[in-house]
This record gives sequence, structure tokens and C-alpha cells, in this order.
Amino acid sequence: MTGRRRSGSLNLILLGAPGAGKGTQAQGIKDAFGIPQIATGDILRAAVAAGTEVGLKADSYMDRGELVPDDVVVAIVAEQLAQDDCRDGWLLDGFPRNAAQAEALEATIREKGLAPIDRVVYLNVSEEEAVRRISGRRVCSNPECGNTYHVEFMPPPADMKCGKCGAEVVQRDDDRPETVRARLETYKRETAELVERYRGAGTLVEIDAEGKPEEVTERIFTALKASGGWAPGIAVKR
Ligand code: AP5
Repeated sequence: MTGRRRSGSLNLILLGAPGAGKGTQAQGIKDAFGIPQIATGDILRAAVAAGTEVGLKADSYMDRGELVPDDVVVAIVAEQLAQDDCRDGWLLDGFPRNAAQAEALEATIREKGLAPIDRVVYLNVSEEEAVRRISGRRVCSNPECGNTYHVEFMPPPADMKCGKCGAEVVQRDDDRPETVRARLETYKRETAELVERYRGAGTLVEIDAEGKPEEVTERIFTALKASGGWAPGIAVKR
């Protein structure tokens, strides 16, 4: 897949439970369509690691598997969308996560005169599969790298040094079993309802996200092409 910019624009949201594969699929999508990924979880983890004001606010919520307050994440996303690299499209990974955030995003788009959401890619996995993926996940401890592994599906190097940057490969703090349960409950309580919201808006593309990562990627590309003519390298805006 090429990463060249295309003539149209493409504004995507990746929606799905913890462990559905949003981060994994975001890599292929952003490279294929040449759009920047805005991953609120990654931004928040970097803020926690750096000890910024946002990080200090977010830390305890993330530790408990709860949503960080809406005003914090809405401000982060609004700032990112205003960047030059978002002019021709963007990929939101992990935002919005409740109705208030969805409304705030719509308000930001309206107020700033931005192009609307084109598609919401919903990665549908069973809870059992989500738990299996999260419990086996290992990540590079260098926030600049953040490469992701899985003990079963994508094993890290035997010495647990990241194959990309050499930093230590670790388990994410919030991937401990008790926090994973809380995150899944938070998803069901606050985020899952967005599926129907976007289905109703006609922007939802539902993907069976079980199977190999590359198979899921192909399903996403096929669905985007069928639903609006967007294809890697030649995205077309309807
Ligand atoms: P965030 O980092 O966004 O976590 P999440 O939504 O819980 O999602 P994950 O990162 O756990 O999973 P993923 O779907 O990206 O899966 P991945 O590709 O890594 O958020 C963390 C916290 O930040 C939240 O709990 C909250 O506190 C806060 N936060 C973030 N956004 C917020 C917001 N908008 N509002 C408020 N608070 C917010 O895959 C998982 C594993 O499976 C990996 O090991 C991967 O290698 C493997 N894998 C992926 N695909 C496959 C496949 N097809 N087959 C086999 N293995 C696979």
C-alpha cells in the first residue's frame, strides 16, 4: 500500500471495544490513505509519562479503567484537528467515547468549518476475543515508539527489547485483569451506544474484526470502497 496524499479527503473514526484492534488497524489505514492518526489513549499515556497537567488529571481515571473527563479529551482533539496535517483528513482512534464527546466533535466540526465525518469504522469483536487480545498485549515502553506486540499472535523479541527502537517491552498498566474488566464495563455503559448513533446517521461501516490483522484490514478497505469509493491512494470524496 502506498502512503501518498490523495486529491480528496477522508475523515474517519475508529470505534470498538478495548482490544478490538483499533490501534493495530489504524497503522494500516493511516499509511494507506496518508491521513494522521489521533489516538486519545496514546496522547493521554504520553501526557502521564511526561507528568504534564493533562497527564496528572488523566492518570487516576486511566488506572481505574474509567473515561478521562470529557473537557480534557475534547480539548485535546480540537487542538489536534486544528493542525495543518489534518486539513486533508484524519483518523480518530478512541474518540468519541460517549454521546457528549460525539456532540462536542460535531460542534467543533461545525464551529471551525471543518469537513464532516465520512465514515465510522466499527470493529466488532466478541468480549472473549477482546480479553484474549488485551491480556496478551505487550508494548514498547518508549512513548515515542509505542510498538505493539502480542505474546501469542505477534511475539516480542526473546530479550523483551523492542524490535523497532530497542527500549524495554512491557505490559500496559491498564492491561491488568481488574482494570481490563473495568474498561470493558465502561465501554458497554458509555461507548457502545455510539454504534447505533452512527448507524442512524448513515456513516457506520461495521467490520467483523475477528481473524488475522491483515484479513481485518482487507475487510476495512473493501467496505470503505463499497460504501463511498475510498481506496488507498485514490480516496474520492462523494
Ligand atoms: P485506549 O488506549 O484508547 O485503549 P482502548 O480503547 O481500551 O483500546 P486498546 O488500546 O486497549 O485496544 P485497541 O482496540 O487499540 O487494540 P490493539 O490494536 O492495541 O484508552 C486507554 C484509556 O485512556 C481509557 O481506558 C481511558 O481511561 C482513556 N481514554 C482514551 N480515550 C478517551 C476518550 N476519548 N475519553 C475519555 N477517556 C479516554 O490490539 C490489542 C492487542 O491485540 C495487541 O496486542 C494486538 O497486537 C492484538 N491484535 C490486534 N488485532 C489483532 C487480530 N486481528 N488478531 C490477533 N491479535 C490482534
